[in-house]
Parts: sequence; structure tokens; C-alpha cells
Amino acid sequence: MSQQHPVTVCAIATRQETIGGISITPGQDVHRLTAELGYWLAEPYWGRGWMTETVIAFTDDAFARLGLVRISAEPYAWNAPSCRVLEKAGFFLEGRLRASAVKDGQITDQLLYAKVRI
Ligand SMILES: CC(C)(COP(=O)(O)OP(=O)(O)OC[C@H]1O[C@@H](n2cnc3c(N)ncnc32)[C@H](O)[C@@H]1OP(=O)(O)O)[C@@H](O)C(=O)NCCC(=O)NCCS
Repeated sequence: MSQQHPVTVCAIATRQETIGGISITPGQDVHRLTAELGYWLAEPYWGRGWMTETVIAFTDDAFARLGLVRISAEPYAWNAPSCRVLEKAGFFLEGRLRASAVKDGQITDQLLYAKVRI
């Protein structure tokens, strides 16, 4: 059961309320040993290093528990804080996905970051 339905979503919470979230989406078939990471944190809590700490702990656990060899993330190219979080958490920039998303009506690039453990 747990192998078919591993926990891949976690809330980030104080004792009072949920203030963020982090998740990974495992791939399928030939991509079954890879997963894509996503996360957010409520604005009052930005700039304290919390997301960096969370990304490190969550991805360490995901590699170990799910047997993954690669975790990737695709922040918008203009999202400097998110890119910084990934770099501090040991991800490497692999490329630029040009015109890969539409955000608030604007076509935008994403950057491809990944952390690999073989
Ligand atoms: C991106 C986000 C998760 C960052 O969380 P956080 O807890 O504030 O991140 P941290 O404090 O761990 O690290 C932020 C880093 O970005 C840097 N940073 C902040 N604003 C910046 C800017 N405008 N330009 C460059 N770097 C910036 C900080 O200085 C810090 O780096 P440092 O430790 O080297 O000084 C948070 O802003 C968020 O949830 N944003 C909205 C959702 C989102 O963008 N999710 C990610 C989708 S890929």
C-alpha cells in the first residue's frame, strides 16, 4: 500500500496554522526514478531560510524513501528567491525552458534545476 501511495505532499505549519506546502510528483514508466518538486510559503515567513531548510529535508527524505535518482524543479525564470532556494539546497541549473509557461497572461521562461543522486 505505502509503495503504491507514498506520501508526496507535506504541509508546513506553525502550531496555529498552515503556512506553506511542499510536494513531489513522481514520474512514470521510464521516468519512474525521477520526480518534480513544488513548494510555497506564506509571505510573512519569507526570508528566514525556512524553505531552504524544508527543501533539503524533504528531498533528502524523498531520495531515501522513494529510491529516486533525480528530483527536478522548474521555477519561473524571474523568480530569483526560488532559484536561490534551489541552489542553496544543492540543485544545479541545467537549462532554460523558453516560453514554457503562461503566468498572469504573460508567456514566460522557466529554469530547469535538478539534484541527482546515483
Ligand atoms: C520562493 C520561496 C519559497 C522562498 O522561501 P523563503 O523561505 O523565503 O526562502 P529562503 O529564506 O530559504 O531563501 C531565500 C533566498 O532568496 C534570496 N532572495 C530574496 N529575494 C531575492 C531577490 N529579489 N533576488 C535575489 N535573491 C533573493 C534571499 O536573500 C535568500 O538567499 P540568501 O540566503 O542567499 O540570502 C517563497 O518566496 C515563496 O513561497 N514564494 C511564492 C511561491 C513560489 O515562488 N514557489 C516556488 C515555485 S518554483
